[in-house]
Amino acid sequence: MRKTLGILTALTIGAMLLSCGGGAKQDEILIGEYGSLTGTTATFGQSTHNGLTLAVEEINNAGGVLGKKIKLLTEDDQSKPEEAATAVTKLITRDGAKAVIGEVASSRSLAAAPICQDNGIPMVSPASTNPEVTRKGDYIFRVCYIDPFQGEVLAKFAYNSLGLRNVAILKDVRNDYSVGLAQFFEETFVGLGGKIAATQAYSEGDTDFKAQLTALKGANPEAVFVPGYYTEGALIVKQARELNMTMPIIGGDGWDSSKLVEIGGEALNGSYFSTHYASDDTNYMVKNFVTKYKERYNETPDAMAALGYDAGLILCDAITRAGSTDGAAIRDALAATRGFRGVTGTISIDENRNARKSAVVIAVVDGKLQYKETIQP
Ligand code: PHE
Repeated sequence: MRKTLGILTALTIGAMLLSCGGGAKQDEILIGEYGSLTGTTATFGQSTHNGLTLAVEEINNAGGVLGKKIKLLTEDDQSKPEEAATAVTKLITRDGAKAVIGEVASSRSLAAAPICQDNGIPMVSPASTNPEVTRKGDYIFRVCYIDPFQGEVLAKFAYNSLGLRNVAILKDVRNDYSVGLAQFFEETFVGLGGKIAATQAYSEGDTDFKAQLTALKGANPEAVFVPGYYTEGALIVKQARELNMTMPIIGGDGWDSSKLVEIGGEALNGSYFSTHYASDDTNYMVKNFVTKYKERYNETPDAMAALGYDAGLILCDAITRAGSTDGAAIRDALAATRGFRGVTGTISIDENRNARKSAVVIAVVDGKLQYKETIQP
């Protein structure tokens, strides 16, 4: 009997040790990251991870947070919402993460946010722009703007800067981000006096868009708006050109990837998309970040890299101000973030746990991304 109890006690203590931060040592603070390191939107996760890693290295080199080093533990969700939920559960319950960074894609943030909320673990999304994400609860934050603003920016850009009056939409119906952004674009564009010539749908993973494009062509639009991710976005532009559709094609931040031009090639010339920052911005914060990132990774950082970096810095700043790794204390400190000078702009968290920030419009010219304009909220 005594022996059994002894074994049981040993097992219980072992399980307890595992559940309270198996991944972190005494002198470390564990931060979890979940992202699409592989799958249909692999550059989203890879770029975020690179930017976040750079932030953590800098913080640790400068002495860490609350006298401890930050340990970053990363889980790949393979670009799938179900895997995002599993990844976050692992990071929280198996590893004992004190806070979580992720995701880029809104559908995956929406799948994981309720788990963070239920466990009282703050989640900071670097780049999910669908408004529903932070509505999942008071532990859910983001460091980017939201799609009602992005949709408005794009509609005004189309109507005012490009002088368009008649635009068609091709959206990804299985993607919360795409559906939302299409709706917000339409609301503003129609409100300004523009017309939506026609709307067609696709699903992520599709490779042939000729039927939808042919239908849109028949409606004779002056431009096509494609709120979706870079792989499909680039293929759509390519196939539109093959069908002799020469009008501007416009995207949102989901187009921001080095793969966009790689896949779309010359067909992309004359298209535009909105995003969170431009790497050729002459602002000192941007220049400094781009130089450091290029030294470390030998490539130009895209928007997710910059947002991953900012998300890491903001979370660590909040933990420092909280003076503790208690979930509620970190949450309160995140909510109190004001005027944080990040690479992607000055970040203040509003009462809905979103960031109010400017957006950037990029043009594709001669196969290169060119900064066009910045739009303030
Ligand atoms: N905003 C997109 C979403 O919510 C994700 C994204 C952000 C993609 C930034 C590229 C760049 O799904």
